[in-house]
This record gives sequence, C-alpha cells and structure tokens, in this order.
Amino acid sequence: MSLLEVRDLSKRFGGLTAVSRFDLTVEAGEIVGLIGPNGAGKTTVFNVISGFYPPTRGAISFKGDSLLGLRPHAICRRGLARTFQIVQPFAGLSALENVMVGAFNRVGEVAAARRHAGEILDLVGLGHRRDAAARSLTLADRKRLEMARGLATSPELLLLDEVMAGLNPVEVDEIIGLIQEIHARGVSLLVIEHVMQAIMALSHRLIVLHHGEKIGEGPPAEVARDRRVIEAYLGEGA
Ligand SMILES: Nc1ncnc2c1ncn2[C@@H]1O[C@H](COP(=O)(O)OP(=O)(O)O)[C@@H](O)[C@H]1O
Ligand SMILES: [Mg+2]
Repeated sequence: MSLLEVRDLSKRFGGLTAVSRFDLTVEAGEIVGLIGPNGAGKTTVFNVISGFYPPTRGAISFKGDSLLGLRPHAICRRGLARTFQIVQPFAGLSALENVMVGAFNRVGEVAAARRHAGEILDLVGLGHRRDAAARSLTLADRKRLEMARGLATSPELLLLDEVMAGLNPVEVDEIIGLIQEIHARGVSLLVIEHVMQAIMALSHRLIVLHHGEKIGEGPPAEVARDRRVIEAYLGEGA
C-alpha cells in the first residue's frame, strides 16, 4: 500500500481541464518531485489532494483510506499537510502564533502548542524571529514560516508548493538542507518546484505534468533526458 495514491484524477473548471486522468503515488519515506511549466496543473493537484477542491473524477487515498469528501482540516488531521504557493500567514500575528495555529491541529493546550511551535520554529531556523510580526518577515523567512505552519500539524506527508520561488541561491541551498532534515525526521514529501537544480537534487522520483497530463515519470536523471519533457519546457522542436 502506498502512503498516497491518486488514481485517474481529473479536475475541470468550467470548460478548462486543469488536470486530466492523472495517476500519482508517494511511498512512505519517499521524496517525489512534481514539475511542469506554468499552468500545467500542479497546484490544482495539491488543491484537490488536500481537499480544497473536489475532483471532477478519480480516487485519492491516504494510508489506505479514501480522502474524497473530507474537508481540508480533516485531511490535515490524518497527517497530510500542505503549504501554499502564495504564502498567506496571519499578517498581524507573530511567527510563533502563526505556527501555534498549525500546532492546535494536534495539541489541545495553549502551553503545549506554544512549546511545540517553538521547537518547529527552531527547526526551520526562525527561532530568533519567533516574536516578529509575520508581515515584517523577509520572503525567505515567510517561506520558512509557511513550512513551519505545515510541520506544526505533525504530518506524515508534507506537500510543498514552490517554497524556493523568488529565493537567491544561498537561500535555496538552505531550504534544500531544511527539506532533507525534515525528511530525515521521517516525513515523506511531495514537492512542486521550478528551481531545477533543487528538485533534481532532492527527489527520488520525478513526475512531469504538461497541460494537465502526465508526460514523464522516473528517476530525475532519466526524466531530464526525456524528449517530451525537454520539448514541454523548451517548446516544440527543441
Ligand atoms: N480556481 C480556479 N478556477 C479556474 N481556473 C483555475 C483555478 N485554479 C487553477 N485554474 C487554472 O488551471 C490551470 C492550472 O493551474 P495551476 O494548477 O495553478 O498550474 P501550475 O500550478 O502548474 O502553474 C491554469 O490554466 C489555471 O488558470
Ligand atoms: Mg502553481
């Protein structure tokens, strides 16, 4: 049994088919990369898996149980958390309070949630900014905060949506290290990323989406040589 199993998933928005007959699995302990040009349907896949949109068709199961019909918070409580491509912290709350919101998914008491959130902030390298208002954080720190909010829910599987977008090379390397640290702690990951060198380095397996359809899957080095994948990125005739 795979940790996450998506079968024959389609998502239509009116006349637009954003995702079409898509299959995906993540095994326990795996880091799977999901790549594809802008508009390929990657974020839509996350939105459907995490319960923000119902699928038009298809099946999604996590640890053997169907997720269909469950609300996002219920899916999160089962151990599947996600970040948002457009980071949306509670701007007026402190970094610590933002992470506590995630912690309350698992922990009922304020003191315990505060302790748990503090540990997660230390893990993501934001311990020194715990009392800063979320709105005052740099983009790189807001990306860390976004990861911390997901981690605070104690996920078994974490979906990361472009957490490196807009970061400089040094910040990208730091986030790669952080993702490896999260993985070493036993969290499986499904990662959308445009920074190629990062996703190649991190992923055990890559899946390529183009116009809502899977056009490639396999070990990163193999996928990078695939003709259809190269054409999707560079245009026909590349
Ligand atoms: N809520 C929505 N309503 C209508 N169209 C949407 C919605 N979300 C995404 N789309 C469309 O679905 C397609 C895939 O978008 P998205 O999943 O965001 O792609 P990616 O994350 O790969 O860049 C795009 O054409 C986008 O405009
Ligand atoms: Mg996206």
